[in-house]
This record gives sequence, C-alpha cells and structure tokens, in this order.
Amino acid sequence: MASQRDAAKARFDADAADWDTNKKHVESVDKAFEAIKRYVPAFGDGSAKNLDVLEIGCGTGLLSFQLAPHVRSIVGVDTSEGMLDAFNGKIAGLLSPEKANVAAVNVLVQEADDVHVQGAAAALDTRRGGSGHDTPYRFDLIVSHLTLHHIPSMPAIFATLFQCLKPGGRIALTDYEDFGPGAIPFHPKDKREGVERHGIQKEAIETIIDGTGFNEVRAERAFVLRKEVQAEDGKPAREMDFPFLICLGQRS
Ligand SMILES: C[S@@+](CC[C@H](N)C(=O)[O-])C[C@H]1O[C@@H](n2cnc3c(N)ncnc32)[C@H](O)[C@@H]1O
Repeated sequence: MASQRDAAKARFDADAADWDTNKKHVESVDKAFEAIKRYVPAFGDGSAKNLDVLEIGCGTGLLSFQLAPHVRSIVGVDTSEGMLDAFNGKIAGLLSPEKANVAAVNVLVQEADDVHVQGAAAALDTRRGGSGHDTPYRFDLIVSHLTLHHIPSMPAIFATLFQCLKPGGRIALTDYEDFGPGAIPFHPKDKREGVERHGIQKEAIETIIDGTGFNEVRAERAFVLRKEVQAEDGKPAREMDFPFLICLGQRS
C-alpha cells in the first residue's frame, strides 16, 4: 500500500512542472469546473461567494484557481511536494499574494481536524478579517478532480470528507468512470503504478457515499473527455472517449 502511494507521489513530483502544459489536463479541469457550477446549487442561486471550499488532490491548482474568484476561500490539499510548489508559485505570482483566498498544504487527509488543514483555514479566515479562532474549521463544499482513483480506501475517505463538512455542506467530486476494461487505457502503461483503480464505478460509489450518511446522493455522467491512448494488446494508438462522473452528496 505504502509503495503504491510512494509511486504515485514520485510520479506527480516529476510531472508537476509540466502539468499545466498538457492540454488534456486543462480541458478536463475546465469541464469539471463547468460541471461543479451546473450541479452545486450555490453557483446557480448566487450564494457561491459564501462557500469555504476544500479541494482534495489540488495538484498545481488548476481547479482551485478557477473556483477562487467565485467562492469565499479554498484550502487545497495534496501529497506531492512538486504539485504544491507549483500551486504556491501561482500564489506568489498574484498581484497581492497576501490577499489570496487560496492556500495549499501537504496533507494525506485522514481526519477532519488535521492540524495543517485547520491552520490553512484559520490563516485564510484571519486574512479576510475573521478571528482565526473559529475552530474546528469545517467546509461548505468539497471538490476533487481525478483524485479518487488514487485513494486506497473509498469508505475511509468519504467518512473523513463527511466530517470535514459543515451541516448542509456538499461534496462534488469528479473522476473518470470505470465502465469496464475499456477504461484501463486512460493511463498509459508507464503511469499505472500508483493508480489504485481504473476509474470509479457509478453504483459502487453511490453505495459508499450513501453508506457514509450523505443525503441527496448521486453519481452522474457529467462530461466526456476525448483523448489519445497508446497502442496496446494488439490495438493501435487511437482516440477514445472517457466518461466522467460527478459524485454528489449533502451532509444534513
Ligand atoms: C491526477 S492528479 C490531479 C491533480 C488536479 N486535481 C488536476 O486535475 O490537475 C491527482 C492528484 O492527487 C494527489 N493525491 C493522490 N492521492 C492523494 C491523497 N490521498 N491525498 C491528497 N492528494 C492526493 C496527487 O499528488 C496529485 O496531485
């Protein structure tokens, strides 16, 4: 288990510097952002600016920085130093970094009261004029994109996410769908080490989210990403359509 995690971490550390130059990474995040806006009611009813958001597996911040202007705050967590360096480089490049409503910390989220998450949320609260002592901090919305398939235990992560939410808070997590063996080529062979599962399965994930105690549980096909896959098992290199699910639930 730990070696899977080490492999994933090494891969993301190595890929971080060029992550944003991959057009498919950017396209998939753009589509995830549009899906979040379509499915999370606060973006439709004009209340998104009240949202404190947690992003799991924030990477270089492609999604966090799209969301940031629309919400109150975002804490991103990731386990790759390389990814976090890229994220923090973007904060440093802002006109007024000291006023940013985003922060990122190196955390493998296992508990809602994680000291790094709490510290980052308190710092953002102080920055916007709060006391910084409103602990324990909890979130209105949790997002993640292309991260669930790297997380070893689905029941454990959903239990933690549930604890990280305020009452009424929601999850909106996007990842590619495991529609069978056809989903395996999503990752080229040399990137499969550290991948826990080849996408997420609709019914299985709904059962887990429901079993965690969430209400309004749904996993819906939200968009499709067309991308090139390598030649493998006698099949030529080709383009394939990969459906993505958005996993939704609310803590009552
Ligand atoms: C495929 S990348 C996606 C990054 C970003 N969400 C994007 O779409 O550009 C998956 C990210 O999840 C992070 N990750 C994997 N397992 C994690 C975990 N248990 N906790 C936090 N981050 C994790 C990796 O380091 C990596 O940055």
